[in-house]
Amino acid sequence: MSVIEMNRPRVKNSANTLSRAKALGKGAANLAAKTSAKASVNALAKLKKKPTAKSSRKNGKNGWRTAATSDHHELYELSVQTPKEEVEFIDKVFKSITNRLPATFREDFCGTHILSSAWVIRRPTNHAYGVDLDPSVLAWGAARRKQQLSPSAHKRLHTVQGNVLSHKGDLVDVVAAFNFSYYIFKKRAELLRYFKFARTRLKKDGVFFLDCYGGYESFSEQNEERNLDGFTYIWDTAKYNPISGEVLNHIHFKFPDGTQIRKAFTYDWRLWTIAELQELLADAGFKRSTVYWEGTDHATGGGNGIFRKATQGEACAGWIAYIAAEK
Ligand SMILES: C[S@@+](CC[C@H](N)C(=O)[O-])C[C@H]1O[C@@H](n2cnc3c(N)ncnc32)[C@H](O)[C@@H]1O
Repeated sequence: MSVIEMNRPRVKNSANTLSRAKALGKGAANLAAKTSAKASVNALAKLKKKPTAKSSRKNGKNGWRTAATSDHHELYELSVQTPKEEVEFIDKVFKSITNRLPATFREDFCGTHILSSAWVIRRPTNHAYGVDLDPSVLAWGAARRKQQLSPSAHKRLHTVQGNVLSHKGDLVDVVAAFNFSYYIFKKRAELLRYFKFARTRLKKDGVFFLDCYGGYESFSEQNEERNLDGFTYIWDTAKYNPISGEVLNHIHFKFPDGTQIRKAFTYDWRLWTIAELQELLADAGFKRSTVYWEGTDHATGGGNGIFRKATQGEACAGWIAYIAAEK
């Protein structure tokens, strides 16, 4: 079987704040790590491509963004999402498991459904189904996607305001729960219930994809900044409870004129470990789950944006990983 890789865009960080960011719909998870630690540079390698001057500096009198002229959903997408790379990764992993390409995709916790959008762009036979509880984020995404997609791709993108624990919809090849959204389920029984339900939404050879994050800095109450082109993204681990495993994270944005959007997104989660997740996936009936761990860029000591199957990780400052669970 060929090696599964996902090449992710690198993020240019300042010398001492290399953040591995990751974002979530109503919030995001961004881990930052220091240069010495592997996780750092790209770790939450779901780091966003550096936006172009054109896309990111617009607005404001002098052409730069300000808090007043910025839209937090847009900043979020610019900061932490890499949909094209993730869809490519899912394709490769799915094919390696099933020997066919997937066509139908369910994006749980879809938020602005940018991942679903990338899915329908990828192949004209692809269909995506996004599920989210929040009508406002769905509406924002719907307006944005309509502007961006061709009419034929747009027709293949479907969203519903619904609960991932109960919305059935069509059976699909792939279910994805990304940007750690399922960390919202803090108790084992709740997460097990979600995993069991997600499994029922898959076709016979379907695959459930999850991402996860960790590393010693994820237990540390600190802010990590990442300078993008025209604004700064801040991942704030505001509270971690080592007894319950609960973590409270915020995303803030800061602008060149000194204005800020504080708590643009807030995430009240449990920080699950990979071992717990794999055990729960097995309990939910998945026949196998495989972890994809990011390789190391030996020049920087950070992540290299390439995720490969692994059973041994590194105890680094911050990491993200993917899990593929086979029905
Ligand atoms: C962290 S965001 C993730 C958004 C998107 N996956 C992304 O990567 O940007 C979490 C989203 O999950 C949604 N959500 C939370 N609980 C949910 C549930 N039980 N069913 C459906 N959506 C839910 C929220 O409305 C929010 O849009």
